[in-house]
Amino acid sequence: MELLVEMQGINKAFAGVPACEGCQFQLRPGEVHALVGENGAGKSTLMKVLAGVYRMDAGQILLRGREVEINSPHAAQMLGITMIHQELNLMPHLTVAQNIFIGREPRRSVPFLLDEPTINQQAEEILAQLHLNLSPKQRVGGLTVARQQMVEIAKALSYNSQVMIMDEPTAALTEAEIEELFNMIHRLREKGIGIVYISHRMEEIKRISDRVTVMRDGHYIETLITPETTIDRVISLMVGRTIYESAPELPETPSTEVVLDVKNLNRGRELRDVNFQLKRGEILGFAGLMGAGRTEVARAIVGADRCDSIELTIKGKPVTIRHPRDAVRHGIGYLSEDRKRYGLVVGMDVANNISMAALHRFVSPIGVVDDGKIRQTAKQQVDALSVKTPSVRQRVRNLSGGNQQKVVIAKWLTADTDILIFDEPTRGIDVGAKSEIYKLLNELARRGKSIIMISSELPEILRMSHRIIVMCEGRITGELTSEEATQEKIMQFATQRSELIGIDSEVQPA
Ligand SMILES: Nc1ncnc2c1ncn2[C@@H]1O[C@H](COP(=O)(O)OP(=O)(O)OP(=O)(O)O)[C@@H](O)[C@H]1O
Ligand SMILES: [Mg+2]
Repeated sequence: MELLVEMQGINKAFAGVPACEGCQFQLRPGEVHALVGENGAGKSTLMKVLAGVYRMDAGQILLRGREVEINSPHAAQMLGITMIHQELNLMPHLTVAQNIFIGREPRRSVPFLLDEPTINQQAEEILAQLHLNLSPKQRVGGLTVARQQMVEIAKALSYNSQVMIMDEPTAALTEAEIEELFNMIHRLREKGIGIVYISHRMEEIKRISDRVTVMRDGHYIETLITPETTIDRVISLMVGRTIYESAPELPETPSTEVVLDVKNLNRGRELRDVNFQLKRGEILGFAGLMGAGRTEVARAIVGADRCDSIELTIKGKPVTIRHPRDAVRHGIGYLSEDRKRYGLVVGMDVANNISMAALHRFVSPIGVVDDGKIRQTAKQQVDALSVKTPSVRQRVRNLSGGNQQKVVIAKWLTADTDILIFDEPTRGIDVGAKSEIYKLLNELARRGKSIIMISSELPEILRMSHRIIVMCEGRITGELTSEEATQEKIMQFATQRSELIGIDSEVQPA
């Protein structure tokens, strides 16, 4: 069969540090080809070369057998290659139709005037082709991540794209949205479109892909036919060794000392009568479906959002927290799920990001910032968490997605707060690094830190928590100890409609 894309001998280095070396990749029409590898393996870089975001240093790209030169994203677009990035690229203040046709709107006779009816109608047609229930006139800023992704796909289709690259498309989607995306992918492949699918989620890859290419340390390792391989095989090729998933190693039972007491937390319809306690040395898991209100609880506690009522007691003392700064002063660190917006300053380097929440410790009595100490501390953290970066002076923007997440974790470890709220700590993190983070959480708990861990991955919640609180529709609908918790029990609480249950958090399922 004719190949849609063939990449050969691709080299790409950043400031002399190679991100891809001698890489190859093939894509057939109508194929879903998964691209996997650990954080920093070079997946996004290789695909950005194909999408014209980066210029390769060496190599060859063939499109339907003909060598092409791809110098810019625009050139890629003209050749029918589109990349849907880890971070979406839409203009929030523009409408769906305007986003689809941005930069090449059909014009009336007057130049520079958008012909709204025409683009709305054309957008309507494309959306219909994709069976998308979206209005062309809707502003993109108000859409969920999943819907924004759909707009990007619609946009790609409007360019007649034959190659669509999806970089971790499901990272921020709910189960239902993932199904919708998979249906969409099936429709695209029926049109003969080739899809590159980058993901850390092995079950998804098993389900959706025809072939899997594995990269490691900037190198091509192997291409496997998905139905003929196993997840274990793919993982061992990724990490270059067999990793033994150690039996769930539960941290010791925590003390009974209550470190954080949250009472009477209410916020409009989002949070209703949330009450819970966190103990010293405890890992308290927060489970629930996306939108259940878990992040809202965290944000309310650290003062990131106003709420209607909240009574906070920390180590027996009532406190008022109005701003995340107050939270840090009271010893609460929050690793948000949205690292770009709240966790990191991507234009700053790794060292400064890591020291950011603990700056007072790096300032001498006469107010001079001790840069050497900042760098040294950062280096220790970078080593401990195996952050893949050429130096601590690298800008965070230039790190791979998973390594940025590790920098957020390093930042809060450096801040050394007694209470840590981790919101989806392993999102976008590869398998090997995941077990490192689990070990780290255990270690922190053992040292007496108290941890709230919000996660949508049930195995993670089950494996890591002493106690599990389940939320549904802004309420706490259940609480389970690690011994009694199972996936089924958690799901039962997580899908409990509020009218069927009382508001008491101790209520058991009927
Ligand atoms: N613009 C850039 N400037 C400097 N270095 C970069 C840049 N982009 C990527 N890198 C480096 O190239 C390497 C590969 O990064 P890449 O983003 O391709 O990894 P990835 O496989 O997509 O990882 P992840 O799963 O974490 O997203 C990393 O070490 C990264 O730090
Ligand atoms: Mg990436």
